[in-house]
Amino acid sequence: MQDLKAFALGVVLSAAAGIVGYHLLSAPYEQPIPDPAQLAETRARIAAEVRAEAEARAAAEAEAKRKAEEEARAAAEASAAAARARAANPMGAPRAGFNPLMPGGGAAGAQPTTSKSGVPLNEEFGNLPDAPGMEETFYTCTACHSTAIIKQQHVTDARWDDLWQWMINTQGMPETDEETKKIVLDYLKTHFSSER
Ligand code: HEC
Repeated sequence: MQDLKAFALGVVLSAAAGIVGYHLLSAPYEQPIPDPAQLAETRARIAAEVRAEAEARAAAEAEAKRKAEEEARAAAEASAAAARARAANPMGAPRAGFNPLMPGGGAAGAQPTTSKSGVPLNEEFGNLPDAPGMEETFYTCTACHSTAIIKQQHVTDARWDDLWQWMINTQGMPETDEETKKIVLDYLKTHFSSER
């Protein structure tokens, strides 16, 4: 009985000693004491990485700032160029009501208000110069086309006589009485002649 107890105690003690011994032996491996040289190297490496990261960030920020400045400069140049173009454009800013498809741009203010000889133009009569013969000319000549085709002519007096006859002979213009013919031709020669 005594022997059995002693044996059991022996087993327990040696087991305990084994556990303690194992821990004592393995402890250094679980928590290795750092090598100071290696530690310094690691610290240096980390510091270098942090520095490199900071430098990269600073470089990216500088690049972004440079780009923003470049864009601002380009925008300023573009608006300056636009201002110069506006200033250099003899037509100025587009007028309200401007219509490029209309003679004179369509806007009322864009039309000249007097003929070359200084006679006011009458809007009601196709902007013909408001002078004796205007109404007769308007009613005789605008049945088939606008006054524009008349106003753009700068021909000799003789050519107006020819055009009158041509209009009758080939374009189907009805003949008028002599008085109307004289009034209209006088009007055309006064205001749309190359001779005065
Ligand atoms: C019956 C219709 C008619 C009447 C009225 C008429 N014209 Fe014309 N006229 C025409 C036609 C059509 C043309 C265009 C012919 C063409 O370009 O082929 C024309 C063209 C013209 C031209 C341009 C000629 C050229 O050398 O290109 C003038 C200028 C002109 N007419 C003036 C007059 C005048 C001024 C009157 C009034 C005295 C008048 N017309 C009355 C039909 C008419």
